[in-house]
Amino acid sequence: MQQALNFVKSNHQRYIEELKTFLTIPSISSDPERKQAMYDCAEHAVNLLKDAGIDNLKIHNTPGHPVVTGDWLHAPDAPTVLIYGHLDVQPVDPLDLWEKDPFVAHIQNDRLVARGTADDKGQLYMHVKALEAILKTDGKLPVNVKIILESEEEIGSVNLPAFLKANKEYLTTDIAVVSDSGMLAEGKPAITYGLKGLTYLEIELTGPNRDLHSGTFGGAVANPAEILARLLASVKDEKGRIQIPGFYDRIPDMTEEERARIARVPYNETEYMSSLGVEELWGEEPYTRRERTGARPTFEINGIWSGFTGVGAKTVLPSKAHAKFSMRLVPDQDPDEIMELVEKYFIEKAPKSVKVKFIRHHGGHPVVTPIDSKYMKAAEQALAESYNHEVYFLREGGSIPIVADFKKILGVDTLLLGFALPDARTHSPNENIHLPTFFTGIESLVRTWYYFVK
Ligand code: BES
Ligand code: ZN
Repeated sequence: MQQALNFVKSNHQRYIEELKTFLTIPSISSDPERKQAMYDCAEHAVNLLKDAGIDNLKIHNTPGHPVVTGDWLHAPDAPTVLIYGHLDVQPVDPLDLWEKDPFVAHIQNDRLVARGTADDKGQLYMHVKALEAILKTDGKLPVNVKIILESEEEIGSVNLPAFLKANKEYLTTDIAVVSDSGMLAEGKPAITYGLKGLTYLEIELTGPNRDLHSGTFGGAVANPAEILARLLASVKDEKGRIQIPGFYDRIPDMTEEERARIARVPYNETEYMSSLGVEELWGEEPYTRRERTGARPTFEINGIWSGFTGVGAKTVLPSKAHAKFSMRLVPDQDPDEIMELVEKYFIEKAPKSVKVKFIRHHGGHPVVTPIDSKYMKAAEQALAESYNHEVYFLREGGSIPIVADFKKILGVDTLLLGFALPDARTHSPNENIHLPTFFTGIESLVRTWYYFVK
């Protein structure tokens, strides 16, 4: 193990150069123009894995973007690990807020800045380099490894469940390991044991059959923009409780043990507020901030538009109003059931003056993973030694839809070892990975595989 750790230490410069090249591929899964880039990215990943010493590499076409698999299975009697990562990235807009080209990585204050550095190319690259370091020094891995890289995580992993079902026997392993989450802070490693689920909807209200003169018709007909505002505002009461009937029905009360576990994670509310530039926080009472973001469901408007939004003023009473909104879910809420409850709520509440139409977007199930497995203990030790700091256990508000499917379809639990710092700006302009954290993270993954069999 020591040789592999030394190998990591002496390859920092090469890692930066290789990762930079990987990051030049604009693998935006939601952009139909990037179909070829998605394939190029899969091929690039195959080459990285081949150079690392991984066998049986394949690119599988799906009805959407490709899936890459590979393995190394020469450790008889040792456990088999499924390593998952995603090759796709979020769109880059607003482009003018990026300091440089989002697909030409540059270093600033110890950080490598580009789309995909943290979410998730940088983190999956760390896995490839940990395996490479062990194979190049020890000649063999302490565990068996199967790798699955998808290209549709940021669009809800639409085709991956079918792939899991079709390849169930091959993909059923002892544990899945995913690095697509974060640390508590610089130098403070974390293991995530909870992820939220998601239901995403778009609503369109149609009032009058065309845009109208707001003087001639204002006062005569209901304004769809105003109705939409009222409907959306009615979803929560002043204590932040979601008013949709049945919304909370499947959520068990939080146990005292769980509340205590969440409260154990250090938190400075003043710093948190100032990092976000807000004077106060707001959310569901009586829960703490960490409970709200990690363990309670939420409802957020992602976008809202109607009427005239151009330069200057135009007096118009719009015909249509639109919003995109999403709910983050916790066990045992079901994304499809919640979708129906929400649609029903809006349909029943909307006045006769508007027609209501929905577009259903992707979703995913919530997960809470076991916190006492031998794999989690091994990873905890590996992280603690590498960062020379105790490890925190987090429930996160983000979603990685396939994690619930690993359990449901394959019966496999997932260990979430994440390395993004809170200011990694994932999904935002100037996304970055903190390089010292990244290098140490590769070492922690090397240790993890050895400690799995200790
Ligand atoms: N890496 C994130 C998920 C994440 C964020 C985990 C923060 C832990 C902490 C992932 O790539 C992501 O952004 N997922 C989407 C999923 C959605 C599009 C179905 C998300 O959470 O919005
Ligand atoms: Zn993401």
